[in-house]
Amino acid sequence: MKTKLLITRKLPRAVEIRAAQTYDAILNAEDRQYSPAQTVDKAQGAHGILCTVTDDFSAPVIAKLPDTVRVLATFSVGYDHIDVDAARARGIVVTNTPDVLTNATADITMLLILGAARRASEGEALMRQDAWVGWAPTHLMGTEVSGKRLGIVGMGRIGQAVARRARGFDMEIHYSDAVRRELPADLPATFYPDADAMLPHCDFLALHVPLLAETRGWLNAGRLARLPKGAIVVNSSRGPVVDDAALIAALKSGHIAAAGLDVFTGEPRANPGYRALPNTFLLPHLGSATVETRTAMGNRALDNLDAFYAGKQPPDLVF
Ligand code: DGY
Repeated sequence: MKTKLLITRKLPRAVEIRAAQTYDAILNAEDRQYSPAQTVDKAQGAHGILCTVTDDFSAPVIAKLPDTVRVLATFSVGYDHIDVDAARARGIVVTNTPDVLTNATADITMLLILGAARRASEGEALMRQDAWVGWAPTHLMGTEVSGKRLGIVGMGRIGQAVARRARGFDMEIHYSDAVRRELPADLPATFYPDADAMLPHCDFLALHVPLLAETRGWLNAGRLARLPKGAIVVNSSRGPVVDDAALIAALKSGHIAAAGLDVFTGEPRANPGYRALPNTFLLPHLGSATVETRTAMGNRALDNLDAFYAGKQPPDLVF
């Protein structure tokens, strides 16, 4: 008898085919977003769950999962949607999908940097509304990225991939992290053990930290004020890392010239203040959204499940 696996969202076809070969896979062909109660209901009799960032596995939901569920394999690198302590307490193993989405997410960060700096939303809106009246020397002038200082908060895999790309745009790299990173010689970067000390040196700021109690609301009014006037902020990590009210106020005052955001508090909703501003470049959480990466994420989640059910330690065990 095959192991019963609940897959909470529609996945790339190749991943679903592989899952169905190994498991008695409960698919979500219509890609409906389940409520926590529906997830618990669908999980009855399942031995594992392949979930995504849109699923709520907070402690009360984990408490209601049937005893048969032994593993939660999330189709994401971030796992702030899972209460890992509550899972551990119930003997449920949690895995994620690091590495495979590094390049795609770093690409999106560059898109955010360029889109915000070069006023892409305003330009694109003019074209879509057929409202462009012609080339003009002072029309939609943005900010040059070449030669500017990029501050990266969190120099893990994705932060480093962003740094490499930004070097290709002749940007100067500054970063803050809990520890100084061993970076290759061709990736010169100035390290700040204290991010607050880095902020005054950033023309651009990119956030690449996980959502934890200590990073929630991290980019607040005080830290925004430490950035130089005219700085540009981008976020492809998690929405709640930014204090929306503070960023919107700084964008309105012009202290922050523009923001590029791929993630939002309360997704799929976003603070309406962002939409109302011309100097925002907004994307709907597309960081890992390429066919190649989403397929690799699915395969990575299945690799973890296969290892777990083979009695081995899954490669991406979340501790
Ligand atoms: C992740 O993997 O954590 C992303 O946010 C979703 O691709």
